[in-house]
Amino acid sequence: KKGSYDHFMQKEIHEQPHSLTTTMRGRLKDGGVLLGGLKEHLKTIRRCRRVVFIGCGTSYNAALAARPFVEELTGIPVTMEVASDLLDRQGPIYREDTAVFVSQSGETADTLLALDYALENGALCVGITNTVGSTLSRKTHCGVHINAGCEIGVASTKAYTSQIVAMAMMALAIGSDQISTQARRNAIISGLTSLPSCVSGVLKLDAEMKELASSLIDSESLLVFGRGYNYATALEGALKVKEVALMHSEGMLAGEMKHGPLALVDENLPIIVIATRDACFSKQQSVIQQLLSRKGRLVVMCSKGDASAVCPNGSCRVIEVPGVADCLQPVINIIPLQLLAYHLTVLRGFDVDQPRNLAKSVTTQ
Ligand code: UD1
Ligand code: F6R
Repeated sequence: KKGSYDHFMQKEIHEQPHSLTTTMRGRLKDGGVLLGGLKEHLKTIRRCRRVVFIGCGTSYNAALAARPFVEELTGIPVTMEVASDLLDRQGPIYREDTAVFVSQSGETADTLLALDYALENGALCVGITNTVGSTLSRKTHCGVHINAGCEIGVASTKAYTSQIVAMAMMALAIGSDQISTQARRNAIISGLTSLPSCVSGVLKLDAEMKELASSLIDSESLLVFGRGYNYATALEGALKVKEVALMHSEGMLAGEMKHGPLALVDENLPIIVIATRDACFSKQQSVIQQLLSRKGRLVVMCSKGDASAVCPNGSCRVIEVPGVADCLQPVINIIPLQLLAYHLTVLRGFDVDQPRNLAKSVTTQ
């Protein structure tokens, strides 16, 4: 089943041009978006007071990546909930809320308990899942199957990118009644169409990421700084590194750097800074300058052709990635980090598909 690949995680990373194609298949129609599972509910969703995203781990990170464009395209405020934390706090969920549950397996205990809680509180409950017939799919009022194909590696990779794309289509569908954002929606739809070929392009960085991994094998820790559309990329990249390569890693908001993490910076600690082109680019340039002035050991991810703009004196390592519509850039940017986590794991001699202490589907609380 692994074909020419050594591991399922590797196969699933390289499968993404295809899995993203199947996520979108039949759903981008006549310049618009058609999600069969949501169309009867769009009116209700448009009238809701807020969207609450609920998930765990990678699925939470996918929702975090979707938050900026859901807010932008729908104008509805979005709040984020880690399922266990919502339950611990018994946080407020109202009838006027749309609660969106994101889960690859559709069987994660914390997510399902949060679903029961939101149902009791009368919210409209929407599922985003990869598993037809799962408890999440059956118990939600409506939803979207991401159709990424079965994911076997414990570390979620192709489901993450397909979840983001499914939520992009959801945001486009909810916002489709707004004339003022028509041009923006068209640009995002054309970005979605070009996404599989961009993903094929970024997968060509495989050898480069293997080489980067070999320079990091003995590091104790790895920081990843992102912001805006790519805050989620930083969290998800760090989660991949810690769960499979068994290396301490933290994703952080670059805007918070000066409020504490800067104290960690020295010439030994490797730091990945995500600085692809979007409205936050110049802020990331100044973050890079501040890290370099503390002799930080930087790897900067930037858009093609931007190496000298992010690193004028060549004092950091640069990963150049292809550009897509800014809000879809997280789909591209996570891929070099998935490859990095994969190679780091193999080089460090750990089990890629069955990381220590982890299970694919966390069905207990
Ligand atoms: C559906 C069919 C698909 C077919 C297409 C043709 C299924 C599973 N899907 O896809 O095979 O090619 O029509 O038009 O038969 N749902 C939830 N919660 C979730 C996910 C989904 O309630 O978490 C519900 C949806 O609201 C919908 C149904 O499940 O009623 C199927 O969802 P989805 O597969 O996303 O719908 P289509 O893309 O229309
Ligand atoms: C990370 C990972 C976990 C899951 C989490 C939620 O690679 O796989 O963090 O994302 O356990 O699982 P689902 O999406 O099945 O609810």
